[in-house]
Amino acid sequence: MPPVSPATAAISVRRLVDLPVAGGAGFGGTVSAGPVSAGTVSGDLVSSAAELAIERIFFEAAGVRTFATETERAEFRERWLGRYLTHDRALTHVAIVDPAQHGEVSGSPDILGYVVGSHDDPARTLRFADIPYFVDLAAVTARYPAHLHINLTESARNHGVGGILIEAFVGDVAAAGLPGVHVVTGARSRNVGFYNRLGFLERATATFNDNPVVLLGRDV
Ligand SMILES: CC(C)(COP(=O)(O)OP(=O)(O)OC[C@H]1O[C@@H](n2cnc3c(N)ncnc32)[C@H](O)[C@@H]1OP(=O)(O)O)[C@@H](O)C(=O)NCCC(=O)NCCS
Repeated sequence: MPPVSPATAAISVRRLVDLPVAGGAGFGGTVSAGPVSAGTVSGDLVSSAAELAIERIFFEAAGVRTFATETERAEFRERWLGRYLTHDRALTHVAIVDPAQHGEVSGSPDILGYVVGSHDDPARTLRFADIPYFVDLAAVTARYPAHLHINLTESARNHGVGGILIEAFVGDVAAAGLPGVHVVTGARSRNVGFYNRLGFLERATATFNDNPVVLLGRDV
């Protein structure tokens, strides 16, 4: 994990499944998740409050705010977020403002961003068969089977937090003994530079909804 700069000194990265539950430093209200208050919630509610925070960041970053139907919205969420939270929940890491570093005893950590992903090669795993470009990328995903999706809330960007999340995810990939990890992003997206600096290099290109995308792979 890279050194934490002063800008990120109050931010820590935790596994979603390790977030504090009631009785410890509470987790809850800051995610605007409805009737949840810090320090009084059950483990299940902690979990759903965190998921709502992640979901809010997901839709904010996706830039798609309106959908023709609720079903379309649900499918979009499931494709890029939901199935990772269910099937690969233990691989989810979140960046939080550490309440202890603010001198709070039982404060509620804000979720600033997350990384979700899977160790399963998406070109060879049935639950990813809905993503058409993996047909063209199968030769490359064999070498870089793990994949991830990362998003930060706008105010948390450009302070190095994303790199800490990536290293947490890559640490799990290494522990699993896999040879590589990839992301697929827009070929002209600004985030390509971010990934390049972290060792994710262009390995293949494809198209998605008529837009050029690039697979960036990192050896592990
Ligand atoms: C991409 C992202 C995870 C990087 O984390 P970060 O902590 O902001 O990254 P760093 O501070 O280490 O580096 C900044 C780099 O992040 C990327 N970045 C910052 N804001 C961005 C934005 N709104 N959209 C896309 N990329 C962005 C750029 O590559 C930037 O480098 P640059 O200034 O040279 O262009 C984060 O900025 C983010 O969530 N962006 C919006 C959503 C996104 O692009 N997610 C990835 C989808 S594949």
